[in-house]
Amino acid sequence: MPEVEIQFTVNGISRKICTAPHRTLLQVLREDLGLTGAKDGCSKGDCGACVVVMDNRAVNACLVLAARADGKEILTVEGLASDGRLSHLQQAFAEKWGLQCGFCTPGMLMSSYALLLSNPQPSDEEIKRAIAGNLCRCTGYSPVIDSVRHAAALAREAGHVW
Ligand code: FES
Ligand code: FES
Repeated sequence: MPEVEIQFTVNGISRKICTAPHRTLLQVLREDLGLTGAKDGCSKGDCGACVVVMDNRAVNACLVLAARADGKEILTVEGLASDGRLSHLQQAFAEKWGLQCGFCTPGMLMSSYALLLSNPQPSDEEIKRAIAGNLCRCTGYSPVIDSVRHAAALAREAGHVW
C-alpha cells in the first residue's frame, strides 16, 4: 500500500513522516514519534484518554487519520510543561487532586487546555461539557472540575493558558 507523507508541527517542532494511509494520529504520535502521553484506552472514541489539541481544538487522536493532521499544529500533553515548569493546568490538577491513577489525565488536560484557549473563564457547566468525553474511573470528576476552575484563575492571573 502506498504511503502518505505528512508534514505537521508537534509540540512546536516541525515533523515530516511517511505512513500507511489507514494509520491514526494516535498511532503515529505513540509509535512513530514516541509521544506516549496520549493513551490508547479504547481505540474507538469512547474514553477520551487519547485527546490531543489540533489547531486549538480538542480531538480524539484515535479517530483522526494521521493524514488529516497534514499541515496542522498538534499539541500533546508532553508539550504542556516548558523549561521544566509545569503548566497552570498541570499545577492546578496536582494542587486540587484532579488525578489519581493518572490514566485519564493527559486527555483531561488537553480537553481542558482547548477549553481555556477559547474560554478563559468557564462556568462549571462549561467545564463539564468540555470534559464530557473524558472518562475517569477514579476521581468522581469533582476534583477535575475544581482543578480546571483553579487553572483558569491561575492562567488569568498570569495572562496565558499554559
Ligand atoms: Fe481514543 Fe478512547 S482511545 S477515545
Ligand atoms: Fe484514574 Fe482518571 S485518575 S481514570
